[in-house]
Amino acid sequence: MDHAAGPWWRTGVLYQIYPRSFADSNADGVGDLPGIVEHLDHLAWLGVDGIWLSPVTVSPNTDWGYDVSDFCAVAPELGTLDDFDLLVVEAGKRGIRVLMDIVPNHTSDQHPWFLDSRSSRSAAHRDWYLWAEGKEGGAPPNNWVSSFGGPGWTFDEQTGQYYFHNHLESQPDLNWWNEDVRDTFDGILRFWSDRGVAGFRIDVCNIIIKDAELRDNPAATEEDDFETQMYGQRSVYNANRPEVHEVIRRWRRLADGYDDPRLLIGETPVPVDSLALYYGHGQDELGLAFNFNFINAPLSAGAMRAIVEETEAALPPGAWPAWTGSNHDMFRFPTRWAEDDPRRVRLALLMLLSLRGTPVLYQGDEIGMANVTVAHADMRDPLGVRFYPYYEGRDAGRTPMQWSDAPGGGFTAAARPWLPLGDVAAANVAAQRDDPDSVLALCRRLIDFRRCHPAFSEGDYTTLPSPEGAWAWQRGERHVVALNMSAGEVAVESMEGTVRVCTDRAREREVVGGPLRLAPHEGFIIERA
Ligand code: NOJ
Ligand code: CA
Repeated sequence: MDHAAGPWWRTGVLYQIYPRSFADSNADGVGDLPGIVEHLDHLAWLGVDGIWLSPVTVSPNTDWGYDVSDFCAVAPELGTLDDFDLLVVEAGKRGIRVLMDIVPNHTSDQHPWFLDSRSSRSAAHRDWYLWAEGKEGGAPPNNWVSSFGGPGWTFDEQTGQYYFHNHLESQPDLNWWNEDVRDTFDGILRFWSDRGVAGFRIDVCNIIIKDAELRDNPAATEEDDFETQMYGQRSVYNANRPEVHEVIRRWRRLADGYDDPRLLIGETPVPVDSLALYYGHGQDELGLAFNFNFINAPLSAGAMRAIVEETEAALPPGAWPAWTGSNHDMFRFPTRWAEDDPRRVRLALLMLLSLRGTPVLYQGDEIGMANVTVAHADMRDPLGVRFYPYYEGRDAGRTPMQWSDAPGGGFTAAARPWLPLGDVAAANVAAQRDDPDSVLALCRRLIDFRRCHPAFSEGDYTTLPSPEGAWAWQRGERHVVALNMSAGEVAVESMEGTVRVCTDRAREREVVGGPLRLAPHEGFIIERA
């Protein structure tokens, strides 16, 4: 590979597919691998370089694939290994690489390892999970809580000990101090890499190792925010352990052992200073680390600029940021960031695709798909089911992809998709493909522009002066980005050049001779003269 030009994903755009909701090929209401193959042309047309698939491995689906019961086989409702291999080949023909989701923190309680582990204290896999004695009087071994609510420990009658789970009871955490667990996961990474997978998104990669002494977490203080505290505790012993970096370095060595090094992307919901640590020293850990500080920030110039500047300053030399607005947990940015204001949706896309780093789009972002209100009776996310009406769960961002305004939205021919369809008339791929002024057309122009202008992948990011409510930056030598993130008009100085991409297509190719006037929520890419 041509290392001089940097790895493929630095110049590329990634796209997350939530397979159950992407495209249903066999009319059972559930998206599947052949459905993805059928829609690869859309992704190629859009200009996507890599797709990350949320888990497609075998799962009882108590957490929709994130409770794995076989790491090396495809869930029957999603297809077969042959379908998977075909997807890799067909994607490859279109210049698209396939990344898997890997879930190392826990397995399903139906995984044969756990079934064995819980069968007796002397079982071969006993030490693969975190078992501990209760305290005197039968209380759990320590105060750790589950990020999904409730105690982190569940008592198992059969062997009279507790097992730990950072999520649901049906998702027992693996013991990453155990060498056999480490070796086995090396084998899993190789199994998929050898099938042509280009990399892995590592589920909750910051929490996989727990304190060997199982110490109690301290209480959170006022200084803690949503990333450092969990239900009133500071998660220092059941998450964010320094020893996790050793495991990531091990995976990085494995990933770099391939001629075409495999990409490791971490799910890393941590503050920016810790995020930087996950890149390692001299590129020896993650290639990309999801930045939840950015995802969770409001879509305002001040907040976004501060996080981008903080991230740029914190990352070690050579490290590459990732920028994301939506995913299957965090809902859809058109609603969350942009309150479904089409101007702000466009602005957010322009921002995501113009920063220094790899943009990771979520299926539907390209058409500005909104969150969908899912009625209690239709909820599928265990968190919605558990916490309704206090929390409605994550289904709003997981509903089927809106391909057309046909019945079933072009997603399924079944009478009932597994989750209800959103408002297909408001946003669908077919209608937007034919409309040069659509969000989809803008998204495609932005991806194309990025690809054609190396400054947009390799060029530095430099903040430029801008009035309140606006945010402007330079990429490389000749390109500037100016965003008006406010509801009033603003003018940004020193923007002489030609408008190359604009949230309002009518202004593209306009020549800017002095200050640039931006309408509310308008965004520009300008090429300097
Ligand atoms: C993060 C995944 O993205 C989420 O969907 C899942 O519920 C948890 N990890 C547990 O695997
Ligand atoms: Ca199906």
